[in-house]
Amino acid sequence: MTNSSPWRATVLTLFPEMFPGPLGVSLAGRALASGLWQLEARDIRASATDRHRSVDDTPAGGGPGMVLRADVLAAAIDAAEIGQDPSKERPRLLMSPRGRPLTQARVMELAQGPGPLIVCGRFEGIDQRVIDARGLEEVSIGDYVLSGGEIAALALIDACVRLLPGVMGKEASGTEESFSGGLLEYPQYTRPQLFEGVPIPEILTSGDHAKVASWRRAQSEALTEARRPDLWAQIPPKPPNRPRRQKTPKNKTDG
Ligand code: ADE
Repeated sequence: MTNSSPWRATVLTLFPEMFPGPLGVSLAGRALASGLWQLEARDIRASATDRHRSVDDTPAGGGPGMVLRADVLAAAIDAAEIGQDPSKERPRLLMSPRGRPLTQARVMELAQGPGPLIVCGRFEGIDQRVIDARGLEEVSIGDYVLSGGEIAALALIDACVRLLPGVMGKEASGTEESFSGGLLEYPQYTRPQLFEGVPIPEILTSGDHAKVASWRRAQSEALTEARRPDLWAQIPPKPPNRPRRQKTPKNKTDG
C-alpha cells in the first residue's frame, strides 16, 4: 500500500470485550502493539435509540429466537464509517454460517486492502434489509454453527494479519504453506531423531535438497488427494514427462 495508515479491522459486535482476545498475544498481538495493524471493536448497542437500548426483536412471520434490527445495525455501520475517505471504501463483511466460505485467496485480498469492517451476527439472524442496504458480504469460516460471529471474525483477522508486511519476521512468507499453492502442507519433523521408536524419514536428513523437495511435493499431493478431493480436483494434471535431451560430451561437437 502506498498510504501510510496501517491496516485496520473495525468490528461491530454486541460483545466488544471479546476483542482483541487471542489477537492480543503472540504474532498478532506483538504486531498490534507495535502499530503494524489496528483493531477497533465497536459496540452495536451504542447505536440503539430506545429507552431499553434494545437491538433485537422477534422475527416477522414467527419462529424462534430474535433478529438484529436493521435500523440499529445500519446506524452502527454508518457511525463506524464517519470521516472515512470515500475513495478508500473498505469491504463490509458479515460473519455468518450462510456466507461464502472464506478462502486463502480472499484473505490475501483483504490483507492487501485497507482492512475490513466486520459485522458479527448473533441471535437467529440479521434483518435482511440492512444486509442489502449496506451491501454486506456474508462470509463463513466453515460448515458448522458458532454462537456468534465474533470467533469467526477473530479467525478472519488472524489470517489477514499474519500476511501483513513485517508481521511474520524471518518466518516463511506463507507461500509454501497449506492452500497457497492449492495443496496441503507436507509433514514436518524435528529432533529427536528417534521418537518412540519412529525415526525421521531418512530422505530429510540426506542433505539432498532436490530429493527433499520432491519428497515433500509428493507428500503434499498425497495428503491433498486423500483429505481434500475438492482442492485436488483444481490442481492441473502434471505435464507428461518430456524425453530427456541427450547430453553432448564436452569434447565432441554435433555434425
Ligand atoms: N457465525 C456463526 N457460525 C459461523 C460460521 N460458521 N462462520 C462465520 N460466522 C458464523
